[in-house]
Parts: sequence; C-alpha cells; structure tokens
Amino acid sequence: MPDAYSSCFLVDTHAHIDGPEFDADRHEAIARAAAVDVRYIVNFGDDMASSARSVTLSEEEPAVFCGVGIHPNNAVLLTPEDEEALALWAKHPKVVAIGEIGLDYYWEKDPERRARQRQCFIRQLDLARQLHLPVCIHDREAHGDLLTILKAEGRENTGVIHCFSGSFEMAQELLRLGWYLGIDGPVTYKNAAKLPDIVRRLPLDHILLETDSPYLSPLPYRGKRNEPAFVRNIAEFVSNIKGISFASLAAKTTANARRLYNPTTRSEERRVGKECRS
Ligand code: NI
Repeated sequence: MPDAYSSCFLVDTHAHIDGPEFDADRHEAIARAAAVDVRYIVNFGDDMASSARSVTLSEEEPAVFCGVGIHPNNAVLLTPEDEEALALWAKHPKVVAIGEIGLDYYWEKDPERRARQRQCFIRQLDLARQLHLPVCIHDREAHGDLLTILKAEGRENTGVIHCFSGSFEMAQELLRLGWYLGIDGPVTYKNAAKLPDIVRRLPLDHILLETDSPYLSPLPYRGKRNEPAFVRNIAEFVSNIKGISFASLAAKTTANARRLYNPTTRSEERRVGKECRS
C-alpha cells in the first residue's frame, strides 16, 4: 500500500466484493469508498474461484489488494493443484495474505468435517509461512481449538483474527501471541454484548477495522448490504468508544493495516511478533 498519503485515510482490511452481490455496482462501490477516504480495500477469497476473482479485481482496481485461500465452510482438503495456484498467487504484488482460512463450528456440527476444517486450516498456515505471507483467520464458535492450533502449528505465523468474537481474556492472549484483531459492524449493534467494552480496554496497536462486506453492516445500515465505505461508520463508533479523535483512530488503524499487509515491512513484523511471544 503506497506511502504518499496523509495518515488520516482508512483501509477496509476485509471485504468480499468479488461476488454477485456487487455485480451491478462494484466499481461504484469502490468509488464511494474513495469518496469518504477509504483508500484501500483488502478483498478475500473463500475458495479457489473467488480467490482467482479477487486477484483479477486487484489487477483492475488500484485501491484493491487481496488475500487468497479456502474458507472453513468449504471444508475441503487442498489438492496439489490448489497449493500450486496459491504459491503462484503469493508472488503477485497485490496479494498480501493467505485467507480467508480458519474454523467454523457454528455452521459445521459434523465431527469428521470439523476435523477436515482443522486439516485444511493447518495446511494453509504452513503454506503461509513458506510463502512469507500473513494469514486472515475466521473463527466462529471454535475459540478453544483455534488457540490450541495457533499455539502449536501457528507459532511462526502472523496475521489477524478477523471479526473477533471472543472474550477479553482471549483477546489479551492473542495480542500476547502477536496477532491482530479485526473489528467489524457488530461492535455498533445494540446487542453487541461485551465487544464494545473489550475494544475500549484493548490497546489500539493491533486493531484492524474491516467491513466483511457484503455481510454485517454497521449501524445505521444494519440489515442492508454492507460495502467498504461503511468502514467509516465503524471507525467513528470505535473512536467514540476509545474517547479519541477520528483522525487519531484512522492514523493508528491505518498504520496497523500497513504494518501487517505491506510486503516491505512483512519480515520486520515477523521479527516483532516473535519478540512479543518470547
Ligand atoms: Ni469474511
């Protein structure tokens, strides 16, 4: 992500705008984001086809970077061809992460398919390490297994737990292990439970802002299609929770996004992450 801007702009660090929900107005949605100073969007694939679409979109749109990977809800095992394609994409200048990968025990109840999710997740953690890319992790109702895997297989990985939904204690543990936490629209919901309080108590240096478009629209758009411009509403809400200015919140979270996803600082981040863990 280029350097030549003021630090007041925002980055939507997690979106899915390659899919059919945006077929009618994808380029307009990117322009609407730019108009409210959301300068970059990181779009994530959730299978091989959407990963390919994400790479193409990043080639067409200067503001779009992307992650490639297989989402746990697909619960497939990687074929040698998939691994080859991921390795090839990893060399692409606009590919900044392996993701969206992880565990989803909310939608998946079958023990065998859950085991397959874990296998697919661990294999992609392994690939990300070999390819020197951070990972973007989906964790829904799988907090225990996620922490176990990150402490065993994920010790040398870096990345973000996207749409964080765990406890304050889990957040602290993940920060100690060097992970970033992604905060999305649900932080603005009236039934958000503990999330606003967790965000209020956490240091800002490992927080990323994300929309997860087209899902999880923040207030006042809840129930409608989400889009990258709305990361601004999340930023406004979080700056109020933290009692800091919008500009300061934007500068810090944008710096975090660039520290994690900027290829030139990636090796430095890995070193810092390791120091945090020791
Ligand atoms: Ni997502």
